[in-house]
Amino acid sequence: MILVYWLLIVNLAALILYGADKAFAKSNARRIPERTLLFFAWIGGSIGAFLGMRIFHHKTLKPKFAVTVPILMVLEIVIIVFSLYQNYHLTVSEYSVDLGLENDLTVVQISDLHNQFFGVNQTVLLKKIEDQHPDMIVITGDIVDKTHTSYGIALDFIEGAVKIAPVYYVTGNHEVWLEGDKLDGFFSEMEDLGVVFMDNSYLETDEYILAGVADSSLAFYENFSAYEPFDDSKPVIMLAHEPQFSALYGHLGADLTFTGHYHGGQIIIPGKGGLVSPEFEIFPKMYEGIHDINGMKLVISRGLGNSILPVRINNYPEIVVVKVQ
Ligand SMILES: [Fe+2]
Repeated sequence: MILVYWLLIVNLAALILYGADKAFAKSNARRIPERTLLFFAWIGGSIGAFLGMRIFHHKTLKPKFAVTVPILMVLEIVIIVFSLYQNYHLTVSEYSVDLGLENDLTVVQISDLHNQFFGVNQTVLLKKIEDQHPDMIVITGDIVDKTHTSYGIALDFIEGAVKIAPVYYVTGNHEVWLEGDKLDGFFSEMEDLGVVFMDNSYLETDEYILAGVADSSLAFYENFSAYEPFDDSKPVIMLAHEPQFSALYGHLGADLTFTGHYHGGQIIIPGKGGLVSPEFEIFPKMYEGIHDINGMKLVISRGLGNSILPVRINNYPEIVVVKVQ
């Protein structure tokens, strides 16, 4: 969002500056230096600069404007279209896991939304989820973001999601960072809509146990004795945010664990993998997909939004679907 605001401001400023300079020229007033006008085109305001030149018939005959500004504008439009596609083109990744269930279970996982916008009332995202005909939707944290805390977008998603299937939720590190009255209000609205909070709790069906680990408790993850492992009577499906604590989930008896947090390493380089983890590890061994960790299946969603690094490249937002048998 910061980039969008930046582009709006800098293009509007460029348009105004070109208009103002034309007016100054007509009235023989002090002019705006040409390098300032060009500077605004270079820093993302080329569309505003181009429009300013056309609307006010200004600098159109000067080669350094007539050539440079259109080239910068084409370049900027290409970069904008490329970035939008990279950050908003929704993909679906499908896996199947055999836990010996009698009735198949389709689980849709949503992770790391970070208040990302996918259409009015999140309709684009919700339609894709609906198409998977899920038996349950699990949200593995970071539905909101510590830097843009308007919860409306996240609530739009929840409102639609609960109409599709039961929704189960665990917190991520961003919710932990946001602890406070505003977040509590958001959580109570989620609960009113019917979301089941799974932080350090579990529920049991005839066939499996669904459990969750709160992200705030992971700071103490080495203290395994604080957690009572489940017995082996039923398969355990675990919801958590951070995949790097897979040893804890295994210790708890998880057979299938859903996580996110890594954002696919932000930029996926072919042949090398995801560039950087949230812990600033370069080319982390695991950054997406499904992995076998000592018999436990660990799903790492690339997630849907961004936080500190606002750009994804070759790393499209992802809805994960797991057919559990
Ligand atoms: Fe995240």
